[in-house]
Amino acid sequence: MRQEPHPISGALYEEVGDGVVRVLDQTGGKSGLFRWDGTWLEGNLTYADPHMLLYIGGPNLPEGKDIFWGFLPPAEDASTVVPAGVGSMPGDQMPQRIVAKYKRDPGLKTDQGMRSAAHVDQDFLLDNDRRPDLVPAVFRLQSPMPGGPVRIDTARFFEKKYHDLEVEKLWKRTWQMACREDDIPNIGDFHVYEIAHLSFLIVRTGEHEFKAHYNACLHRGRLLREHDGARAREFRCPYHGWSWNIDGTLKEITTEWDFPGVREHVCTLPSAQVGRWGGFIFINPDPDAMSLEEFLGPVMLQHYAKYKMENRYKQAHVTRVIGANWKVGTEAFLESYHVIATHPQVMLTGGDLAECRYDVFGNFGRAAHVSAGRSGASPQRGLFVTPEHVLATYRQSADFQRAYLRGIIGDEVEQFSDAELNDSSFNHVFPNLHPWSGWSRIVFRFRPNGDNPDECIQDVMLLAPWPEGKPKPPPRPIRHLKMNESWTDAPELASLARILDQDVLNMPKLQAGLKTKQPSYVWYSAYQEGKIRNFHRNYDRAMGLEGVGDSQE
Ligand code: FES
Ligand SMILES: [Fe+2]
Repeated sequence: MRQEPHPISGALYEEVGDGVVRVLDQTGGKSGLFRWDGTWLEGNLTYADPHMLLYIGGPNLPEGKDIFWGFLPPAEDASTVVPAGVGSMPGDQMPQRIVAKYKRDPGLKTDQGMRSAAHVDQDFLLDNDRRPDLVPAVFRLQSPMPGGPVRIDTARFFEKKYHDLEVEKLWKRTWQMACREDDIPNIGDFHVYEIAHLSFLIVRTGEHEFKAHYNACLHRGRLLREHDGARAREFRCPYHGWSWNIDGTLKEITTEWDFPGVREHVCTLPSAQVGRWGGFIFINPDPDAMSLEEFLGPVMLQHYAKYKMENRYKQAHVTRVIGANWKVGTEAFLESYHVIATHPQVMLTGGDLAECRYDVFGNFGRAAHVSAGRSGASPQRGLFVTPEHVLATYRQSADFQRAYLRGIIGDEVEQFSDAELNDSSFNHVFPNLHPWSGWSRIVFRFRPNGDNPDECIQDVMLLAPWPEGKPKPPPRPIRHLKMNESWTDAPELASLARILDQDVLNMPKLQAGLKTKQPSYVWYSAYQEGKIRNFHRNYDRAMGLEGVGDSQE
Protein backbone atom coordinates (compact mmCIF):
# COMPACT_ATOMS: atom_id res chain seq x y z
CA MET A 1 0.00 0.00 0.00
CA ARG A 2 1.32 3.42 -0.93
CA GLN A 3 1.78 6.05 1.71
CA GLU A 4 3.40 9.49 1.58
CA PRO A 5 3.14 12.76 3.45
CA HIS A 6 2.00 15.75 1.44
CA PRO A 7 5.19 17.77 0.79
CA ILE A 8 3.59 21.05 1.87
CA SER A 9 0.79 20.31 4.32
CA GLY A 10 2.41 17.24 5.85
CA ALA A 11 -0.96 15.44 5.82
CA LEU A 12 -0.47 11.70 5.48
CA TYR A 13 -1.96 10.14 2.34
CA GLU A 14 -2.42 6.42 2.72
CA GLU A 15 -3.90 3.92 0.29
CA VAL A 16 -6.42 1.67 2.00
CA GLY A 17 -7.43 -0.44 -1.02
CA ASP A 18 -9.87 -0.31 -3.95
CA GLY A 19 -8.72 3.16 -4.92
CA VAL A 20 -9.63 4.63 -1.52
CA VAL A 21 -7.21 6.96 0.24
CA ARG A 22 -7.19 7.95 3.89
CA VAL A 23 -5.90 11.46 4.47
CA LEU A 24 -4.77 12.30 7.96
CA ASP A 25 -4.01 15.88 8.89
CA GLN A 26 -1.82 15.28 11.90
CA THR A 27 -1.62 18.91 12.95
CA GLY A 28 -5.35 19.67 12.74
CA GLY A 29 -6.39 16.23 14.01
CA LYS A 30 -8.76 15.77 11.05
CA SER A 31 -9.05 12.85 8.70
CA GLY A 32 -11.09 11.84 5.69
CA LEU A 33 -11.59 9.03 3.22
CA PHE A 34 -11.54 9.83 -0.47
CA ARG A 35 -11.75 7.96 -3.70
CA TRP A 36 -8.66 8.54 -5.83
CA ASP A 37 -10.73 10.64 -8.26
CA GLY A 38 -11.30 13.22 -5.51
CA THR A 39 -14.73 12.10 -4.32
CA TRP A 40 -15.07 12.63 -0.55
CA LEU A 41 -16.46 9.55 1.20
CA GLU A 42 -16.41 10.26 4.92
CA GLY A 43 -14.62 12.05 7.75
CA ASN A 44 -14.22 15.59 8.99
CA LEU A 45 -11.53 16.34 6.40
CA THR A 46 -13.55 17.04 3.28
CA TYR A 47 -11.04 18.19 0.68
CA ALA A 48 -7.73 16.70 -0.39
CA ASP A 49 -5.12 17.44 -3.06
CA PRO A 50 -6.47 15.72 -6.21
CA HIS A 51 -3.01 15.05 -7.63
CA MET A 52 -1.79 13.51 -4.40
CA LEU A 53 -4.94 11.34 -4.24
CA LEU A 54 -4.23 10.16 -7.77
CA TYR A 55 -0.61 9.48 -6.92
CA ILE A 56 -1.44 7.45 -3.82
CA GLY A 57 -4.70 5.74 -4.78
CA GLY A 58 -4.92 5.94 -8.55
CA PRO A 59 -4.30 3.26 -11.16
CA ASN A 60 -1.02 1.52 -10.56
CA LEU A 61 1.57 -0.17 -12.68
CA PRO A 62 2.10 -3.93 -12.64
CA GLU A 63 4.58 -5.30 -10.15
CA GLY A 64 8.13 -4.26 -10.88
CA LYS A 65 7.20 -1.64 -13.51
CA ASP A 66 7.03 1.40 -11.25
CA ILE A 67 10.61 2.34 -12.04
CA PHE A 68 12.21 5.45 -13.49
CA TRP A 69 11.74 5.36 -17.27
CA GLY A 70 15.22 6.76 -17.90
CA PHE A 71 16.75 3.55 -16.60
CA LEU A 72 14.57 1.07 -18.44
CA PRO A 73 16.57 -1.52 -20.34
CA PRO A 74 16.38 -0.20 -23.91
CA ALA A 75 14.92 -3.43 -25.29
CA GLU A 76 13.15 -6.45 -23.84
CA ASP A 77 16.17 -8.69 -24.19
CA ALA A 78 18.76 -6.07 -23.27
CA SER A 79 20.19 -6.00 -19.83
CA THR A 80 21.54 -2.82 -18.32
CA VAL A 81 22.93 -2.22 -14.93
CA VAL A 82 21.86 0.79 -12.95
CA PRO A 83 25.02 1.76 -11.08
CA ALA A 84 24.87 2.04 -7.35
CA GLY A 85 25.24 5.49 -5.91
CA VAL A 86 22.06 7.36 -6.71
CA GLY A 87 21.18 7.16 -3.04
CA SER A 88 24.38 8.86 -2.00
CA MET A 89 24.00 12.06 -4.00
CA PRO A 90 24.65 15.28 -2.14
CA GLY A 91 20.95 16.04 -2.43
CA ASP A 92 20.41 13.37 0.14
CA GLN A 93 22.09 15.52 2.73
CA MET A 94 18.55 16.82 3.01
CA PRO A 95 16.05 14.66 4.87
CA GLN A 96 14.80 11.73 2.79
CA ARG A 97 11.26 13.08 2.70
CA ILE A 98 11.07 16.87 2.79
CA VAL A 99 7.92 18.39 4.19
CA ALA A 100 7.95 22.17 4.39
CA LYS A 101 5.27 24.83 4.51
CA TYR A 102 4.51 26.89 1.44
CA LYS A 103 6.42 30.17 1.34
CA ARG A 104 6.10 33.03 -1.09
CA ASP A 105 9.06 33.01 -3.48
CA PRO A 106 10.13 36.67 -3.51
CA GLY A 107 12.07 36.21 -6.75
CA LEU A 108 15.51 37.47 -7.58
CA LYS A 109 16.54 40.41 -9.72
CA THR A 110 19.07 39.38 -12.36
CA ASP A 111 20.56 41.10 -15.39
CA GLN A 112 18.09 39.16 -17.50
CA GLY A 113 15.02 40.04 -15.42
CA MET A 114 13.25 38.50 -12.44
CA ARG A 115 13.96 34.87 -11.67
CA SER A 116 13.18 32.47 -8.84
CA ALA A 117 14.99 33.14 -5.60
CA ALA A 118 16.66 29.75 -6.14
CA HIS A 119 18.20 30.94 -9.40
CA VAL A 120 21.69 29.63 -10.12
CA ASP A 121 23.35 31.00 -13.22
CA GLN A 122 23.75 28.17 -15.68
CA ASP A 123 27.03 29.66 -16.86
CA PHE A 124 28.43 28.87 -13.42
CA LEU A 125 27.83 25.19 -14.14
CA LEU A 126 29.08 25.39 -17.73
CA ASP A 127 32.20 27.24 -16.56
CA ASN A 128 32.86 24.40 -14.13
CA ASP A 129 32.19 21.58 -16.55
CA ARG A 130 34.91 18.96 -16.24
CA ARG A 131 34.99 18.58 -20.03
CA PRO A 132 34.66 22.21 -21.06
CA ASP A 133 35.80 21.62 -24.65
CA LEU A 134 32.90 19.27 -25.24
CA VAL A 135 30.13 21.65 -24.17
CA PRO A 136 28.19 22.65 -27.31
CA ALA A 137 28.37 26.40 -27.85
CA VAL A 138 24.58 26.67 -28.11
CA PHE A 139 24.26 25.59 -24.47
CA ARG A 140 25.54 29.03 -23.52
CA LEU A 141 22.99 30.96 -25.54
CA GLN A 142 20.37 32.79 -23.53
CA SER A 143 17.22 33.95 -25.22
CA PRO A 144 14.35 34.40 -22.79
CA MET A 145 11.11 35.40 -24.46
CA PRO A 146 11.01 39.20 -24.35
CA GLY A 147 8.12 41.14 -22.86
CA GLY A 148 5.94 40.75 -19.82
CA PRO A 149 2.87 38.72 -18.98
CA VAL A 150 0.47 38.22 -21.87
CA ARG A 151 -3.20 37.46 -22.03
CA ILE A 152 -4.80 35.30 -24.70
CA ASP A 153 -8.49 34.96 -25.50
CA THR A 154 -9.90 31.60 -24.47
CA ALA A 155 -11.86 31.13 -27.70
CA ARG A 156 -8.94 29.63 -29.59
CA PHE A 157 -9.05 26.61 -27.30
CA PHE A 158 -12.59 25.52 -28.06
CA GLU A 159 -14.28 27.43 -30.88
CA LYS A 160 -14.61 25.39 -34.04
CA LYS A 161 -13.73 28.36 -36.23
CA TYR A 162 -10.20 28.28 -34.79
CA HIS A 163 -9.91 24.59 -35.49
CA ASP A 164 -11.05 25.16 -39.07
CA LEU A 165 -8.54 27.97 -39.46
CA GLU A 166 -5.81 25.77 -38.01
CA VAL A 167 -6.44 23.19 -40.71
CA GLU A 168 -6.04 25.80 -43.43
CA LYS A 169 -3.30 27.99 -41.96
CA LEU A 170 -1.38 25.62 -39.75
CA TRP A 171 -1.69 21.92 -40.55
CA LYS A 172 -1.71 22.52 -44.32
CA ARG A 173 1.29 24.83 -44.07
CA THR A 174 3.61 23.79 -41.29
CA TRP A 175 6.31 21.19 -40.82
CA GLN A 176 5.00 18.43 -38.58
CA MET A 177 6.41 15.12 -37.39
CA ALA A 178 4.60 12.23 -39.05
CA CYS A 179 6.52 9.16 -37.85
CA ARG A 180 9.97 7.64 -37.30
CA GLU A 181 11.98 6.28 -40.19
CA ASP A 182 12.21 3.05 -38.22
CA ASP A 183 8.41 2.76 -38.33
CA ILE A 184 8.67 2.01 -42.05
CA PRO A 185 12.01 0.20 -42.36
CA ASN A 186 11.53 -1.53 -45.74
CA ILE A 187 10.75 -0.22 -49.20
CA GLY A 188 6.99 -0.24 -49.57
CA ASP A 189 6.29 0.07 -45.84
CA PHE A 190 3.84 2.86 -45.13
CA HIS A 191 2.27 4.74 -42.24
CA VAL A 192 -1.11 6.48 -42.28
CA TYR A 193 -0.53 9.91 -40.73
CA GLU A 194 -3.68 11.75 -39.72
CA ILE A 195 -3.99 15.35 -38.63
CA ALA A 196 -7.47 16.83 -38.12
CA HIS A 197 -9.45 15.51 -41.14
CA LEU A 198 -6.34 15.26 -43.32
CA SER A 199 -4.70 11.93 -44.07
CA PHE A 200 -1.33 11.16 -45.66
CA LEU A 201 0.39 7.97 -46.70
CA ILE A 202 4.00 8.16 -45.55
CA VAL A 203 5.81 5.56 -47.61
CA ARG A 204 9.41 4.47 -47.95
CA THR A 205 10.09 4.48 -51.67
CA GLY A 206 13.84 3.82 -51.55
CA GLU A 207 16.53 3.04 -49.03
CA HIS A 208 16.65 6.68 -48.01
CA GLU A 209 13.65 8.05 -49.89
CA PHE A 210 10.24 8.82 -48.57
CA LYS A 211 7.00 10.23 -49.96
CA ALA A 212 3.91 11.65 -48.27
CA HIS A 213 0.96 11.11 -50.60
CA TYR A 214 -2.44 12.58 -49.91
CA ASN A 215 -4.33 9.48 -48.86
CA ALA A 216 -7.21 9.77 -51.30
CA CYS A 217 -8.00 8.08 -54.57
CA LEU A 218 -7.98 10.38 -57.57
CA HIS A 219 -11.14 8.76 -58.98
CA ARG A 220 -13.90 9.50 -56.48
CA GLY A 221 -11.81 10.10 -53.42
CA ARG A 222 -11.91 7.00 -51.27
CA LEU A 223 -9.15 6.77 -48.66
CA LEU A 224 -6.54 4.53 -50.21
CA ARG A 225 -5.47 3.00 -46.90
CA GLU A 226 -6.89 3.10 -43.38
CA HIS A 227 -4.13 1.13 -41.68
CA ASP A 228 -0.36 1.03 -41.70
CA GLY A 229 1.15 -1.62 -43.93
CA ALA A 230 4.35 -3.26 -45.06
CA ARG A 231 6.11 -3.98 -48.35
CA ALA A 232 3.40 -2.54 -50.56
CA ARG A 233 4.12 -2.56 -54.27
CA GLU A 234 1.12 -0.45 -55.17
CA PHE A 235 -1.78 1.39 -53.64
CA ARG A 236 -4.87 -0.08 -55.27
CA CYS A 237 -8.10 1.66 -54.33
CA PRO A 238 -10.55 -0.75 -52.69
CA TYR A 239 -13.57 0.90 -54.40
CA HIS A 240 -13.08 0.51 -58.20
CA GLY A 241 -9.47 -0.65 -58.30
CA TRP A 242 -7.52 2.30 -59.65
CA SER A 243 -3.91 1.92 -58.59
CA TRP A 244 -0.69 3.86 -58.16
CA ASN A 245 2.86 2.72 -57.64
CA ILE A 246 4.38 3.46 -54.24
CA ASP A 247 6.20 6.47 -55.68
CA GLY A 248 2.80 7.89 -56.60
CA THR A 249 2.94 7.31 -60.35
CA LEU A 250 -0.21 5.95 -61.95
CA LYS A 251 -0.27 2.20 -62.44
CA GLU A 252 -3.72 1.47 -63.75
CA ILE A 253 -7.16 2.90 -64.34
CA THR A 254 -9.61 0.01 -64.46
CA THR A 255 -11.75 0.09 -67.63
CA GLU A 256 -9.73 3.03 -68.81
CA TRP A 257 -11.73 3.04 -72.09
CA ASP A 258 -14.48 4.68 -70.03
CA PHE A 259 -12.28 7.58 -68.88
CA PRO A 260 -10.94 9.11 -72.09
CA GLY A 261 -8.66 12.07 -71.36
CA VAL A 262 -8.55 11.43 -67.62
CA ARG A 263 -5.14 9.74 -67.39
CA GLU A 264 -3.16 12.97 -67.65
CA HIS A 265 -5.07 14.36 -64.64
CA VAL A 266 -4.44 11.39 -62.36
CA CYS A 267 -0.97 10.30 -63.38
CA THR A 268 0.59 11.22 -60.01
CA LEU A 269 -0.76 11.14 -56.48
CA PRO A 270 -0.35 14.62 -55.03
CA SER A 271 2.05 14.68 -52.12
CA ALA A 272 3.35 16.84 -49.32
CA GLN A 273 6.98 17.86 -48.88
CA VAL A 274 9.06 15.45 -46.83
CA GLY A 275 11.94 16.38 -44.52
CA ARG A 276 14.01 14.29 -42.13
CA TRP A 277 15.71 15.07 -38.88
CA GLY A 278 17.04 12.80 -36.15
CA GLY A 279 15.30 9.70 -37.48
CA PHE A 280 11.95 11.51 -37.63
CA ILE A 281 10.01 12.03 -40.84
CA PHE A 282 8.38 15.43 -41.09
CA ILE A 283 5.91 16.51 -43.72
CA ASN A 284 4.64 19.86 -44.91
CA PRO A 285 1.73 20.02 -47.36
CA ASP A 286 2.76 23.51 -48.47
CA PRO A 287 4.86 23.23 -51.65
CA ASP A 288 6.24 26.73 -51.05
CA ALA A 289 7.28 26.15 -47.45
CA MET A 290 10.78 26.89 -46.21
CA SER A 291 13.07 23.89 -45.75
CA LEU A 292 12.76 21.79 -42.61
CA GLU A 293 16.29 22.84 -41.60
CA GLU A 294 15.34 26.50 -41.79
CA PHE A 295 12.14 25.82 -39.88
CA LEU A 296 13.92 24.01 -37.05
CA GLY A 297 16.65 26.64 -36.93
CA PRO A 298 20.39 26.44 -36.26
CA VAL A 299 20.14 26.46 -32.45
CA MET A 300 17.83 23.48 -32.38
CA LEU A 301 19.94 21.55 -34.90
CA GLN A 302 23.14 22.25 -33.00
CA HIS A 303 21.62 21.49 -29.62
CA TYR A 304 20.82 17.94 -30.73
CA ALA A 305 23.74 17.35 -33.12
CA LYS A 306 25.77 15.11 -30.83
CA TYR A 307 22.81 13.18 -29.48
CA LYS A 308 22.24 11.48 -32.84
CA MET A 309 18.53 10.97 -32.32
CA GLU A 310 18.53 8.81 -35.45
CA ASN A 311 20.38 6.14 -33.48
CA ARG A 312 17.65 5.86 -30.86
CA TYR A 313 15.49 2.80 -30.56
CA LYS A 314 11.75 3.34 -30.05
CA GLN A 315 11.10 1.21 -27.01
CA ALA A 316 7.60 2.55 -26.37
CA HIS A 317 4.91 4.38 -28.33
CA VAL A 318 1.53 4.94 -26.75
CA THR A 319 -1.32 7.21 -27.79
CA ARG A 320 -4.23 8.34 -25.65
CA VAL A 321 -7.33 10.34 -26.49
CA ILE A 322 -7.70 13.31 -24.14
CA GLY A 323 -10.73 15.51 -23.58
CA ALA A 324 -8.98 18.79 -24.26
CA ASN A 325 -7.79 20.89 -27.16
CA TRP A 326 -4.36 19.96 -28.54
CA LYS A 327 -2.99 23.34 -27.41
CA VAL A 328 -4.08 22.65 -23.83
CA GLY A 329 -2.11 19.42 -23.98
CA THR A 330 0.88 21.10 -25.58
CA GLU A 331 1.02 23.84 -22.98
CA ALA A 332 1.07 21.30 -20.14
CA PHE A 333 4.62 20.39 -21.17
CA LEU A 334 6.06 23.83 -21.85
CA GLU A 335 6.75 24.79 -18.25
CA SER A 336 7.65 23.14 -14.95
CA TYR A 337 5.83 25.84 -13.01
CA HIS A 338 2.99 23.35 -12.46
CA VAL A 339 5.15 20.89 -10.52
CA ILE A 340 4.33 22.48 -7.16
CA ALA A 341 0.62 21.75 -7.61
CA THR A 342 0.37 18.98 -10.19
CA HIS A 343 3.27 16.71 -9.23
CA PRO A 344 3.52 17.37 -5.48
CA GLN A 345 5.27 14.07 -4.80
CA VAL A 346 8.27 15.28 -6.81
CA MET A 347 8.97 17.78 -4.06
CA LEU A 348 9.32 15.09 -1.43
CA THR A 349 12.72 14.14 -2.77
CA GLY A 350 13.59 16.95 -5.14
CA GLY A 351 12.98 20.59 -5.73
CA ASP A 352 9.96 22.39 -7.06
CA LEU A 353 11.73 23.12 -10.38
CA ALA A 354 11.09 26.84 -10.04
CA GLU A 355 14.68 27.57 -11.04
CA CYS A 356 14.34 26.11 -14.56
CA ARG A 357 15.74 28.11 -17.41
CA TYR A 358 13.65 28.92 -20.48
CA ASP A 359 14.85 30.12 -23.86
CA VAL A 360 13.14 30.54 -27.20
CA PHE A 361 14.68 30.48 -30.64
CA GLY A 362 12.03 30.89 -33.33
CA ASN A 363 10.14 27.62 -33.55
CA PHE A 364 12.35 26.01 -30.90
CA GLY A 365 11.59 26.40 -27.21
CA ARG A 366 14.24 25.15 -24.83
CA ALA A 367 14.22 24.47 -21.12
CA ALA A 368 17.04 23.54 -18.78
CA HIS A 369 17.02 22.18 -15.29
CA VAL A 370 19.95 23.96 -13.73
CA SER A 371 19.77 21.65 -10.78
CA ALA A 372 19.49 18.53 -12.91
CA GLY A 373 19.98 15.68 -10.60
CA ARG A 374 18.50 16.54 -7.30
CA SER A 375 19.83 19.66 -5.70
CA GLY A 376 16.67 19.90 -3.62
CA ALA A 377 16.17 23.65 -3.84
CA SER A 378 12.52 24.48 -3.27
CA PRO A 379 12.16 28.23 -2.95
CA GLN A 380 8.40 27.95 -2.65
CA ARG A 381 9.01 26.02 0.55
CA GLY A 382 11.91 28.12 1.76
CA LEU A 383 14.53 25.47 0.96
CA PHE A 384 17.70 26.78 -0.63
CA VAL A 385 21.03 25.27 -1.57
CA THR A 386 24.32 26.92 -2.46
CA PRO A 387 25.65 27.04 -6.04
CA GLU A 388 28.49 24.78 -4.87
CA HIS A 389 25.96 22.25 -3.68
CA VAL A 390 24.17 22.43 -7.04
CA LEU A 391 27.50 21.92 -8.80
CA ALA A 392 28.33 18.89 -6.65
CA THR A 393 24.91 17.37 -7.42
CA TYR A 394 25.36 18.22 -11.09
CA ARG A 395 28.68 16.42 -11.27
CA GLN A 396 27.48 13.41 -9.36
CA SER A 397 24.44 13.18 -11.57
CA ALA A 398 26.67 13.36 -14.67
CA ASP A 399 28.91 10.61 -13.29
CA PHE A 400 25.91 8.45 -12.65
CA GLN A 401 24.52 9.00 -16.13
CA ARG A 402 27.93 8.33 -17.68
CA ALA A 403 28.25 5.03 -15.84
CA TYR A 404 24.75 3.99 -16.85
CA LEU A 405 25.11 4.99 -20.50
CA ARG A 406 28.47 3.26 -20.79
CA GLY A 407 26.56 0.00 -20.44
CA ILE A 408 24.54 0.86 -23.53
CA ILE A 409 26.63 3.00 -25.88
CA GLY A 410 30.10 2.07 -24.61
CA ASP A 411 32.97 4.50 -25.01
CA GLU A 412 30.84 6.88 -27.06
CA VAL A 413 29.87 8.24 -23.68
CA GLU A 414 33.29 9.88 -23.41
CA GLN A 415 32.22 12.37 -26.08
CA PHE A 416 29.84 14.09 -23.69
CA SER A 417 30.31 16.87 -21.18
CA ASP A 418 28.66 17.07 -17.77
CA ALA A 419 26.19 19.51 -19.28
CA GLU A 420 25.07 17.08 -21.95
CA LEU A 421 24.86 14.13 -19.58
CA ASN A 422 22.57 16.22 -17.38
CA ASP A 423 20.50 17.46 -20.29
CA SER A 424 16.97 16.12 -19.97
CA SER A 425 15.02 19.17 -20.92
CA PHE A 426 11.42 19.54 -21.95
CA ASN A 427 12.04 21.16 -25.31
CA HIS A 428 9.47 21.95 -27.95
CA VAL A 429 9.28 22.44 -31.68
CA PHE A 430 6.32 24.44 -32.90
CA PRO A 431 3.59 23.52 -33.29
CA ASN A 432 3.13 20.16 -31.61
CA LEU A 433 6.35 18.18 -31.10
CA HIS A 434 8.13 17.85 -27.77
CA PRO A 435 11.49 16.13 -28.28
CA TRP A 436 12.97 16.15 -24.78
CA SER A 437 16.65 16.44 -25.15
CA GLY A 438 19.69 14.50 -24.15
CA TRP A 439 19.00 11.24 -22.44
CA SER A 440 15.46 11.71 -21.19
CA ARG A 441 14.04 9.50 -24.00
CA ILE A 442 10.71 11.35 -24.01
CA VAL A 443 8.99 12.53 -27.18
CA PHE A 444 5.45 13.89 -27.03
CA ARG A 445 3.16 14.98 -29.83
CA PHE A 446 -0.34 16.47 -29.67
CA ARG A 447 -2.80 16.35 -32.54
CA PRO A 448 -6.45 17.35 -32.73
CA ASN A 449 -8.71 14.31 -32.62
CA GLY A 450 -10.36 14.63 -36.02
CA ASP A 451 -12.30 17.88 -36.17
CA ASN A 452 -13.30 17.98 -32.51
CA PRO A 453 -11.67 21.02 -30.89
CA ASP A 454 -12.46 19.58 -27.45
CA GLU A 455 -10.33 16.47 -27.95
CA CYS A 456 -6.77 15.68 -28.83
CA ILE A 457 -4.52 12.67 -29.23
CA GLN A 458 -1.31 12.60 -27.25
CA ASP A 459 1.53 10.43 -28.51
CA VAL A 460 4.18 9.38 -26.02
CA MET A 461 7.35 7.79 -27.30
CA LEU A 462 10.41 6.64 -25.41
CA LEU A 463 13.51 6.71 -27.60
CA ALA A 464 16.22 4.76 -25.84
CA PRO A 465 19.94 5.19 -26.48
CA TRP A 466 21.25 2.52 -28.83
CA PRO A 467 24.81 1.76 -29.89
CA GLU A 468 25.81 3.15 -33.25
CA GLY A 469 25.98 0.49 -35.93
CA LYS A 470 24.27 -2.25 -33.94
CA PRO A 471 21.05 -3.37 -35.65
CA LYS A 472 18.00 -2.15 -33.82
CA PRO A 473 15.06 -4.41 -33.01
CA PRO A 474 11.83 -3.30 -34.68
CA PRO A 475 10.17 -0.40 -32.86
CA ARG A 476 7.60 -1.38 -30.29
CA PRO A 477 4.12 -1.39 -31.92
CA ILE A 478 1.89 1.56 -31.07
CA ARG A 479 -0.53 0.99 -28.21
CA HIS A 480 -3.72 3.06 -28.47
CA LEU A 481 -5.47 4.08 -25.24
CA LYS A 482 -9.00 5.43 -25.10
CA MET A 483 -10.02 8.52 -23.18
CA ASN A 484 -11.08 6.63 -20.06
CA GLU A 485 -7.95 4.53 -19.86
CA SER A 486 -4.92 5.34 -17.74
CA TRP A 487 -1.36 5.72 -18.96
CA THR A 488 -0.58 2.94 -16.48
CA ASP A 489 -2.40 0.61 -18.88
CA ALA A 490 0.82 0.97 -20.87
CA PRO A 491 3.41 -0.39 -18.43
CA GLU A 492 6.14 0.07 -21.07
CA LEU A 493 6.11 3.74 -20.00
CA ALA A 494 7.25 2.75 -16.49
CA SER A 495 6.88 5.52 -13.88
CA LEU A 496 6.33 8.15 -16.57
CA ALA A 497 2.79 6.75 -16.79
CA ARG A 498 1.96 7.92 -13.28
CA ILE A 499 3.35 11.39 -13.93
CA LEU A 500 1.35 11.65 -17.15
CA ASP A 501 -1.85 10.62 -15.38
CA GLN A 502 -1.36 13.65 -13.14
CA ASP A 503 -0.86 15.95 -16.14
CA VAL A 504 -3.88 14.55 -17.93
CA LEU A 505 -6.02 14.97 -14.81
CA ASN A 506 -5.86 18.72 -15.40
CA MET A 507 -6.54 18.80 -19.11
CA PRO A 508 -10.31 18.16 -19.38
CA LYS A 509 -10.82 20.36 -16.31
CA LEU A 510 -8.91 23.13 -18.05
CA GLN A 511 -10.94 22.65 -21.22
CA ALA A 512 -14.15 22.97 -19.20
CA GLY A 513 -12.86 25.94 -17.23
CA LEU A 514 -11.81 27.80 -20.35
CA LYS A 515 -15.39 27.74 -21.57
CA THR A 516 -16.82 29.28 -18.44
CA LYS A 517 -13.97 31.60 -17.53
CA GLN A 518 -14.62 35.31 -17.08
CA PRO A 519 -13.04 37.47 -18.26
CA SER A 520 -12.56 35.28 -21.31
CA TYR A 521 -8.79 35.33 -21.48
CA VAL A 522 -5.91 33.55 -19.74
CA TRP A 523 -2.59 34.89 -18.48
CA TYR A 524 0.91 33.69 -19.28
CA SER A 525 3.82 34.83 -17.17
CA ALA A 526 6.88 36.81 -18.17
CA TYR A 527 9.48 34.11 -17.68
CA GLN A 528 8.33 30.66 -16.62
CA GLU A 529 5.58 30.65 -19.24
CA GLY A 530 7.77 32.31 -21.85
CA LYS A 531 7.82 29.23 -24.03
CA ILE A 532 4.01 29.29 -24.06
CA ARG A 533 4.06 32.95 -25.00
CA ASN A 534 6.42 32.07 -27.82
CA PHE A 535 4.07 29.27 -28.86
CA HIS A 536 1.20 31.75 -29.14
CA ARG A 537 3.38 34.26 -30.96
CA ASN A 538 4.19 31.58 -33.55
CA TYR A 539 0.55 30.49 -33.58
CA ASP A 540 -0.71 34.03 -34.15
CA ARG A 541 1.74 34.48 -37.01
CA ALA A 542 0.78 31.21 -38.64
CA MET A 543 -2.92 31.90 -38.22
CA GLY A 544 -2.76 35.50 -39.38
CA LEU A 545 -4.08 36.70 -36.02
CA GLU A 546 -1.38 39.24 -35.27
CA GLY A 547 -2.77 42.60 -34.41
CA VAL A 548 -6.40 41.55 -34.30
CA GLY A 549 -6.58 41.58 -30.54
CA ASP A 550 -6.55 37.84 -29.88
CA SER A 551 -3.44 38.24 -27.81
CA GLN A 552 -2.32 41.32 -26.01
CA GLU A 553 0.97 42.13 -24.38
S1 FES B 1 -12.87 5.79 -55.71
FE1 FES B 1 -10.97 4.86 -55.97
S2 FES B 1 -11.23 3.65 -57.75
FE2 FES B 1 -13.12 4.62 -57.49
FE1 LIG C 1 3.64 17.74 -15.67
